[in-house]
Amino acid sequence: MNFSKAVFRWLGVVSVLALALLSAPTLAADAVKPGRSGQAIYSVSCVSCHGFGMRGAPKVSDSAAWAPRLAQGKDKMYQHVIDGMGWMPRRGTCFTCSDDEVKAAVDYMVSQVK
Ligand code: HEC
Repeated sequence: MNFSKAVFRWLGVVSVLALALLSAPTLAADAVKPGRSGQAIYSVSCVSCHGFGMRGAPKVSDSAAWAPRLAQGKDKMYQHVIDGMGWMPRRGTCFTCSDDEVKAAVDYMVSQVK
């Protein structure tokens, strides 16, 4: 009786641990698929600030906010996102993004500005 209870408890602990171990890399992998599209990166890493203008982030829907940023040229913008700018953390929080992926996310974001 007690023995089987102990076994079940042990199995419970093991399966919770196993699930945690299995799901952690899976969750991470979701955000780190190689060759992610700019849109995928945007919707994971950037929309939280740029969708609503969090902390002064230029909103995707606000073309006036983008005009001066676009005017400085894309290379500057890429570099600002890669290095971080003001409230925006390095790589716009996509710490696993390659430079090219960050650029793709910027391109996607800019393509959505109306
Ligand atoms: C934590 C909030 C936050 C997240 C997440 C974020 N940004 Fe930003 N972003 C900002 C803020 C705030 C600014 C304005 C910074 C300033 O002008 O000082 C900004 C500015 C920018 C700019 C304009 C840079 C320039 O040169 O004027 C681009 C492009 C940009 N973000 C792209 C991205 C991309 C791409 C992502 C996702 C990979 C992202 N951001 C994620 C907050 C964020």
